[in-house]
Amino acid sequence: MGPVLGIETSCDETATALLDADGRILAETVLSQTREHAAFGGVVPEIAARAHLHYLPDQVTALLAQAGLGVRDLGGVAASGGPGLIGGLIVGSLMAKGLAMAAALPYVAVNHLEAHALTARLPGLMPGGAGFPYLLLLVSGGHCQCVAVEGVGRHVRLGGTVDDAAGEAFDKVAKLLGLGWPGGPALERLAARGDPRRHDFPRPMLRREGCDFSFSGLKTAVAQVVARYPAGPLPQQDAADIAASFQAAVTEVLADRARHAMAMMRARAPAADLLVVAGGVAANRAVRAALEEAAARAGFRLAAPPLRLCTDNAVMVAWTGIERLRLGWTSPLDFAPRPRWPLDSADLRPAA
Ligand code: KG4
Ligand code: ZN
Repeated sequence: MGPVLGIETSCDETATALLDADGRILAETVLSQTREHAAFGGVVPEIAARAHLHYLPDQVTALLAQAGLGVRDLGGVAASGGPGLIGGLIVGSLMAKGLAMAAALPYVAVNHLEAHALTARLPGLMPGGAGFPYLLLLVSGGHCQCVAVEGVGRHVRLGGTVDDAAGEAFDKVAKLLGLGWPGGPALERLAARGDPRRHDFPRPMLRREGCDFSFSGLKTAVAQVVARYPAGPLPQQDAADIAASFQAAVTEVLADRARHAMAMMRARAPAADLLVVAGGVAANRAVRAALEEAAARAGFRLAAPPLRLCTDNAVMVAWTGIERLRLGWTSPLDFAPRPRWPLDSADLRPAA
């Protein structure tokens, strides 16, 4: 099989990647649209769609030039087909289908969540690659869920958020503290100077059975504290204490939920011993340290792909394309991109 092209346009990253059949990265481009959306304090779907349309063709051209390859040298084209913002999904899917049709290549509509899930299997990331089954904790701005990854197209959602995603909570609290968008990294920096014991914020779902999450009550509790101050910027130390106390609450909840998820995983597959974290929140050092400790206690290894592969990227999309093409699984050219496409959908594998 020739190299596989991956395209990611489900949110606000326009990304392309070219991987050889063994999963080695031949070329890669990522264009983050942070600048386009920052003024609005979040991703504006229409602006994202237009930016993908504007950037994607040149990115594909540049990618192929980087690798010194033409479309006809490829072994397949894979694009995120959902879940995500429909405008971007349409742009990426149509580009992939057009290339596939023009060069008679197989096309793979990739489930973006499966792409996050299978990243840990990229050769070279972990000795031997992650073998099935393993536990995935996906914590990003849009997703917050625990998944038993049992095979390509075989995923069981063990639990997830009933309201906000963890990254969304970081972003909303960062906004309350006047830190700009996206707020997670800035909030982590501010928290480093604060007292995590100053505010006893709620720990939603702590010790609750299962591994669901909830963050909206925590966000409201922070908003109530912030509302006690007069309008305008908070005193520096007070803001740092709020940030640190909030981060401590999120961290404790994530570690507790991961503990429950590991127990659930063990009940499904007694030999399972790998916890993979993915998503932007995995960049947070306090979160990572707490997960590391929870995993060690449960007899699990923690694997966190390098950050650029944790956040949205096209390497994971191309890799998922390769995993599927190896099984002979392709998608029809009339595949309709899906804003919603849960990871445990039965249609992630061919009908038996
Ligand atoms: O995976 P990602 O790049 O995009 C998706 O949402 O798919 O994740 C971005 C999210 C944002 O909510 C951002 O605030 C959060 O991850 N994030 C962080 C940190 N870095 C990024 N949250 C907490 N601490 C960080 N250091
Ligand atoms: Zn993502």
